[in-house]
Amino acid sequence: MQRIFESERMADEERARYAQADFFDSNRRFLAHFQEKFPDFCRGLVLDVGCGPGDVPLRFARRYAEATVHGLDSSAAMLRYAQNALARAPDLRSRVRFVQGRLPEAVLPRRSYDAIISNSLLHRLPETASLWQALSELGRPGACVCMMDLHRPGSEAQARELVERHAGDKPEPVKRDFLQSLRAAFKVEEIRQQLTEAKLLLSVETCDDHHLLIWGALPA
Ligand SMILES: C[S@@+](CC[C@H](N)C(=O)[O-])C[C@H]1O[C@@H](n2cnc3c(N)ncnc32)[C@H](O)[C@@H]1O
Repeated sequence: MQRIFESERMADEERARYAQADFFDSNRRFLAHFQEKFPDFCRGLVLDVGCGPGDVPLRFARRYAEATVHGLDSSAAMLRYAQNALARAPDLRSRVRFVQGRLPEAVLPRRSYDAIISNSLLHRLPETASLWQALSELGRPGACVCMMDLHRPGSEAQARELVERHAGDKPEPVKRDFLQSLRAAFKVEEIRQQLTEAKLLLSVETCDDHHLLIWGALPA
């Protein structure tokens, strides 16, 4: 199946559906993958690229009591959901900060991060070269990198089957968003090729029937 790119910018209704949808299970699994791949990580400065409504940064801050987490997102509207979520977690306010900006040109509060994470961003990007370039510039030597995203199914029929399996009980617009995102996702081999071109030695693997994980350390 050919990649069908969906706009990097979510329409208002899609953004509202996304922010209110229940991705807690997938976000919980993302944190579990990070813990499994980086068992020695316990403190430091974490950057979540394309943090959306903020559940992942809050989860990381809660799990790692000595970490500070910056969530970057290009959408001011999405960050309002994140700020509201942070307002409901007063114990995390001193260690979580949300920043509006678009990679690669975003100006971040710090120059060098100990871990760079991202969930469900890649399939929203028209191209990934600038993201891979930004990783090398934003991570300190040896920084942990962990990104999860959808992977594109082999055919339209498989994509529709995945939508039914995982969102069969959801309203039609949610199912449609999911199908479009599956069509826009990259395949494992495509990401591997991108990383080779970017000279980044990161691992890429599928982690369930519709997600892939990119992980590893930046050069020390
Ligand atoms: C599908 S949402 C994922 C949100 C969040 N990571 C999560 O797991 O719930 C993708 C997010 O990436 C943001 N985004 C897209 N392109 C971006 C870029 N170039 N720089 C920063 N954020 C971006 C969008 O505004 C959107 O909030």
